Amino acid sequence: MSNTQPHEEEHHSPIKTPKQLIVTVVLSFILPVIIIILLANLVTAGVTVGAGSDTLGPEATAKRIAPIARLDLVDASGPKVYKTGEQVYKAVCAGCHTAGVAGALKFGDAGAWSTAIGTGLASMVANVVKGKGSMPAKGGNPALDDYEIARAVVYMANSAGGKFEEPAAPAPQAPAAK
Ligand code: HEC
Repeated sequence: MSNTQPHEEEHHSPIKTPKQLIVTVVLSFILPVIIIILLANLVTAGVTVGAGSDTLGPEATAKRIAPIARLDLVDASGPKVYKTGEQVYKAVCAGCHTAGVAGALKFGDAGAWSTAIGTGLASMVANVVKGKGSMPAKGGNPALDDYEIARAVVYMANSAGGKFEEPAAPAPQAPAAK
């Protein structure tokens, strides 16, 4: 027992012959490469490219060529989808009118709105479209259609005691002559 113990210590390494050494060195180079290749295959599994794969399918193609920003480009000749008065109000007008910033008529405040309401819808809409006092034209969003402004005015005025009917949607316009 006391004899074998030191003997074992001397041959501690499992590599005992030059051949084993060579095999070990070669394997230590090749194994990581194989593992990397396998991992790469694993990661790209399912992403097959070329004929027979679905990367050329209509869905995948549409996804690939889709505009990055995904802008909803509205066809000018198509029917325009108008925002509701509430949508316009929340997106554009609420910033000033909810709290009554800079003399803006406070939302829902019948007292503040009564004078403007008395002037009628057309007058109010016109004032918003061209701007009034510290209110920029169209509340600062020139992209809004006058009809959307009118809807927002109706929504706001009616929340403050007004009794306006929403104006009829404008007839779809023919594509503008260029
Ligand atoms: C930058 C702040 C601001 C924004 C944004 C804004 N308003 Fe105003 N608005 C005002 C102010 C200030 C007044 C009062 C103007 C005055 O009488 O001098 C006003 C007045 C009005 C009036 C009364 C007009 C009249 O005839 O007296 C209406 C209606 C109105 N706003 C609707 C809107 C609508 C609809 C929007 C969104 C599309 C909007 N506002 C966005 C500040 C704003």
